[in-house]
Amino acid sequence: MKLLVTGGAGFIGSAVVRQAIRDGHEVVNVDALTYAACLDNVAEVAEAPGYAFEQADIRDRAALDRIFAAHAPDAVMHLAAESHVDRSIDGPGTFIETNVMGTFHLLEAARAYWQDKGRPESFRFHHISTDEVYGSLGPNPETDGQFTEDTPYDPRSPYSASKASSDHLVRAWHETYGLPVVLTNCSNNYGPFHFPEKLVPVVILRALAGAPIPVYGKGENVRDWLYVEDHADALLTVVQKGEIGRSYNIGGENEAQNIELVRTICAILDEKRPGNAAYAEQITFVDDRPGHDLRYAIDPTRISEELGWRPSVTLEQGLEKTVQWYLDNEDWWRALQDREGVGQRLGKAG
Ligand SMILES: NC(=O)c1ccc[n+]([C@@H]2O[C@H](COP(=O)([O-])OP(=O)(O)OC[C@H]3O[C@@H](n4cnc5c(N)ncnc54)[C@H](O)[C@@H]3O)[C@@H](O)[C@H]2O)c1
Repeated sequence: MKLLVTGGAGFIGSAVVRQAIRDGHEVVNVDALTYAACLDNVAEVAEAPGYAFEQADIRDRAALDRIFAAHAPDAVMHLAAESHVDRSIDGPGTFIETNVMGTFHLLEAARAYWQDKGRPESFRFHHISTDEVYGSLGPNPETDGQFTEDTPYDPRSPYSASKASSDHLVRAWHETYGLPVVLTNCSNNYGPFHFPEKLVPVVILRALAGAPIPVYGKGENVRDWLYVEDHADALLTVVQKGEIGRSYNIGGENEAQNIELVRTICAILDEKRPGNAAYAEQITFVDDRPGHDLRYAIDPTRISEELGWRPSVTLEQGLEKTVQWYLDNEDWWRALQDREGVGQRLGKAG
């Protein structure tokens, strides 16, 4: 397939681009190159014959029309977004502009292109979203359950509200105009090329720097952790085999409290790069994020039973690979540490 991937210079988008090229697809990577982007993430495929890069903003309709006409994609995989919850608390406007208005412009450009081509049913608009649209679960996996595709939307942060809005737009463009869409909502990703403001790289890099490792509140918040390469594999499965109009929850079957996750990373580092003291001694509890959702958990039954997809690694295996990657790729993360806001406490809401 020829895939138009938005946000392909970001963390998850770049994993999709690398995997798609390895699988023999053609890729047009459309990215505005915001603070969160890094073209080194796709360096391994930059010279591949099936790869093209277009620097463009998804809010720029004229640029999108030109890109659709020039590349004639078979499918869109839409990952471009503002993605950091803490930044959405400090500055929600960009989240509304990119995640809501950007998705609107991309849908309109895709619809015009699809209609011009005679409305082929084989076309796909795959919207990549998050489990955060469902809100927060109670603490007990036995009694409080997991998110299914039928869980009502209940977003609580500016980020998750903007993603929920974009999901609604995508469903509406299917119902109203017949655009052949699929949606996915996935849990927290981690893995290589994760921007150094997100929890897993923050823990690794603070530990290596001998600095306090910040944990919000008491570290009791629970997330389901998904290795980014497993996520890329799931997304490529859904864009090819997913049923039109349907959404799929994607999880790693790896629920963990933040404090457990942080302690596991510290223990892996103790093995791989022993210091004078255990890295866990650097853990420091800090003021919680306002409106911090307590627990997210994914029921992955639909994608597993209908499309035969399962995650390939456990959390321990994925963290082991991730820590090793950060130890081996110091040049990559050092170059990003000077970017605006990185290393600062964001999202305290005054
Ligand atoms: N990271 C996670 O754990 C996670 C979990 C669930 C869902 N998601 C979703 O997956 C997608 C990718 O997340 P990520 O973590 O890779 O994000 P990221 O922040 O690492 O990358 C986002 C990319 O989008 C680009 N971008 C931002 N605004 C743009 C615009 N206006 N026009 C064009 N490009 C723009 C950026 O330059 C960057 O390359 C997002 O839609 C996010 O909501 C992420």
